[in-house]
Amino acid sequence: MSVVAEAQRRRTFAIISHPDAGKTTLTEKFLLYSGALAEAGAVKARSGRRSATSDWMEMEQKRGISISSTALSFEYRGFQLNLLDTPGHRDFSEDTYRVLSAVDAVVMVLDSAKGIEPQTLKLFEVCRSRNLPVITFLNKYDRPGREPLELLDEIEEQIGLRPTPATWPVGISGDFRGVIDRRTGEFTRFTRTVRGSAIAPEELVDPDTAAAEEGSAWEHALDESGLLDAIEADVDLESFRAGESTPVFVGSALTNFGVRHVLDAIVDLAPAAEARVDAKDNRRELDADCSAFVFKVQANMDRSHRDRIAFVRICSGRFERGMVLTCDRTEKPFATKYASTVFGAERTTIEEAYPGDVVGLVNAQGLNIGDSLYESTPVSFPPIPRFSPEVFASARPLDTGKVKQFRKGLAQLDEEGVVQVLRDPDMGDSAPILAAVGQLQFDVFADRLDAEFNAPIEILSAPYEAIRLTDAESAKRLREIGGIRIMERGDGHLVALFESRYRLQRIEGDEPDLTLDHIIAG
Ligand code: G4P
Repeated sequence: MSVVAEAQRRRTFAIISHPDAGKTTLTEKFLLYSGALAEAGAVKARSGRRSATSDWMEMEQKRGISISSTALSFEYRGFQLNLLDTPGHRDFSEDTYRVLSAVDAVVMVLDSAKGIEPQTLKLFEVCRSRNLPVITFLNKYDRPGREPLELLDEIEEQIGLRPTPATWPVGISGDFRGVIDRRTGEFTRFTRTVRGSAIAPEELVDPDTAAAEEGSAWEHALDESGLLDAIEADVDLESFRAGESTPVFVGSALTNFGVRHVLDAIVDLAPAAEARVDAKDNRRELDADCSAFVFKVQANMDRSHRDRIAFVRICSGRFERGMVLTCDRTEKPFATKYASTVFGAERTTIEEAYPGDVVGLVNAQGLNIGDSLYESTPVSFPPIPRFSPEVFASARPLDTGKVKQFRKGLAQLDEEGVVQVLRDPDMGDSAPILAAVGQLQFDVFADRLDAEFNAPIEILSAPYEAIRLTDAESAKRLREIGGIRIMERGDGHLVALFESRYRLQRIEGDEPDLTLDHIIAG
């Protein structure tokens, strides 16, 4: 098969949701429906069952959240689906944002009893601002919940995405019988299986039989669907691909109701891997020589190996294990002798990959997030946006004999993007400020410094409220003003930290010539 044909059968996506909305359950059911799992219940560690989650970090287990991202690949209807898992915790969002740069679509899972929960709104907004195609799954409809029409309003108002229901429920939440596919008018009736561990039996029922057997539930569903017809809330491929409208599916991941409809939508509606535009706005055609970019770096995933894996998304050409790629930043060659896919804690060596695929390159010492790799024709893909930090802290080694380890850990975890490490240009590593989008990043940082570098630290909150990018000339002036600290980021950029947002606003107003740029988000 040609590279283009291989790319066309790829669907690379992520699931985003508020913790507990059902992301893990849905992931598991995707695997069940694709045949990759014989029985549901294996993804999330349950007593006596195999754990396939990425449980390599103790903290992850303690908190019961998924901190590391995993890439799962599975076949469905002859298509290859690449699912990039994203941590579902608000406070660990930088990692999630980076994953979004490597996918072509997302599935947004909402708990239909709760709707959009404030903590995850930001994540949804990022998808919107990047025009990522979003498929919405209203989950947990087997339980009493909110009116689906009300949830549609909420999606439109809060995210600015126009909801276009693809399916509509028959039966109220809590008494869920099946869904009407609004595109074909077909009614799919489901039957529960025990804990949803097997595929839910589905029955296609014609409208007359449905009317006779489902009575008022059917009438109600038809009425509401008719209302949606009247406002032309129909699935529209063009606006979905442009990130303006979102096909909505109603279901229950737990009982498997509606899971197949979502999988079909990923294949039928979500875009295939397409030619990417590079930093100079040129298209890197799919059949050009191999190219990829690093969207995630993770060290010490496997304690016994002490390694560093760079996760790359293939953008063009055919990747073959063993090929030598060049890194655009360093212009150094990188031999891809050890390439793997990572399914939870398990690794499988990968021999070849195509646009849309994710490959974990092992022993990736010289590779950083945002680096591009190419086989022969040089290319640099656009940088992955960094997010404006919102919380700041200082870090101090608890054991003064471990300064060397502390420095090593600082450099490593900064490169991985666990936190952003800011250094005082005059003091180097001795009094770094850590900057992050969420507090949990500091905990992960401290935990890993201790566990992996044997350098326990103390994290103290630092009194800053805002950060701006600046330059050497403006820094000179800013240093004269109180309440501002000039620091240097890992990439050499100067930043100014402000103790008060109000003060920053005043300076921006009073001295418009100073360079005080926002760190762009999204
Ligand atoms: P997450 O990854 O988004 O955090 O959510 P997860 O799938 O772990 O689901 C959170 C809880 O919600 C789980 O219950 C799960 O069984 C339940 N759940 C998921 N989908 C549905 C659904 O469609 N209907 C109903 N009723 N529940 C659903 P738990 O009690 O926390 O765990 P468990 O004991 O079931 O494993």
